[in-house]
Amino acid sequence: MNKGILSSAIEAIGNTPLVELSRLGRGCEGRILAKLEHLNPGFSKKDRIARQIIADAEATGALAPGQTVVELTSGNTGTGLAIVCGVKRYPFVAVMSRGNSMERARMMRALGAEVVLVDQLPTSASGQVSGDDLEAVEERAQRIVEERRAFRADQFRLQGNSRAHYLHTGPEIICQTGGAIDAFVDFVGSGGSFAGCAAAFKESDPQIQCFIAEPAGAAVLAGETVTHPNHRIQGGGYSMAALSLLNPAHIDGYVQIADAEAIEMARRLAAEEGIFAGFSAGANVAAAATLLDGPWRGKTVVVLVCDAGLKYLSTDLWE
Ligand SMILES: Cc1ncc(COP(=O)(O)O)c(C=O)c1O
Repeated sequence: MNKGILSSAIEAIGNTPLVELSRLGRGCEGRILAKLEHLNPGFSKKDRIARQIIADAEATGALAPGQTVVELTSGNTGTGLAIVCGVKRYPFVAVMSRGNSMERARMMRALGAEVVLVDQLPTSASGQVSGDDLEAVEERAQRIVEERRAFRADQFRLQGNSRAHYLHTGPEIICQTGGAIDAFVDFVGSGGSFAGCAAAFKESDPQIQCFIAEPAGAAVLAGETVTHPNHRIQGGGYSMAALSLLNPAHIDGYVQIADAEAIEMARRLAAEEGIFAGFSAGANVAAAATLLDGPWRGKTVVVLVCDAGLKYLSTDLWE
């Protein structure tokens, strides 16, 4: 086959560009480098873990040809799995809270997935998925796995999640920068991106400092009490104190981001840098700016642009 032609969209996953946010960073000492993960085929970094989890399960025999795949998702992992399963012809069921934006459910359906929506708890605010909401989604996902004898592509437990970032995202950043980065900060959901990138960075240079970003008022990993579980930063901050993929030895510190800061930064990313991304990308850039504002002044901080702004057109992120 011609070298310029890929055999499927799965091969178009990864190798995303790294952009210096020099317009946003104007006036601040130091550099923020943003890895444009929203340019993946499913418009998020989660395409990478979908490819890895399915490849690992095929390699170990955990996934049989034609077997159904099930996953709990806030939309992005589901979209990645819908792409990978669609191309590889595995039926895929995405189980998602109604609190996530509906663009995601529509996109997964368009990609051939069956989408099961789970109602939010009466105490949860619409559009703000809490840890309790996620528990209800988890229960439903487990039931469907049993009923259909399905393979659970469990992003919270399977090593394929962090391995995707250890094998690809992290090394791509090291290659793109020649290893010249000082810090990495990442808004955590499953912890897979942080765990994989941090492992790759520390292996390359133990001096690279790795920070976890959490919503202000839901910073359980930093040991804070939860006062604001219904934060606005979709894709993470689930108030889960135990994330099995995280290696505590790779965590150098914590940054907290308020909803308004994440939202303002997502809007500025679009308006000033031409990067149309979601809430968590805004949180990541805001966290990087916080680091540069403090003891990291003058340094180079790298962040992921987790997903695309198109996924939030029905929310008030865009007016
Ligand atoms: C938009 C978005 N941002 C951030 C995250 C958190 O990434 P991770 O699960 O790798 O910690 C996710 C995870 O689903 C996400 O969808």
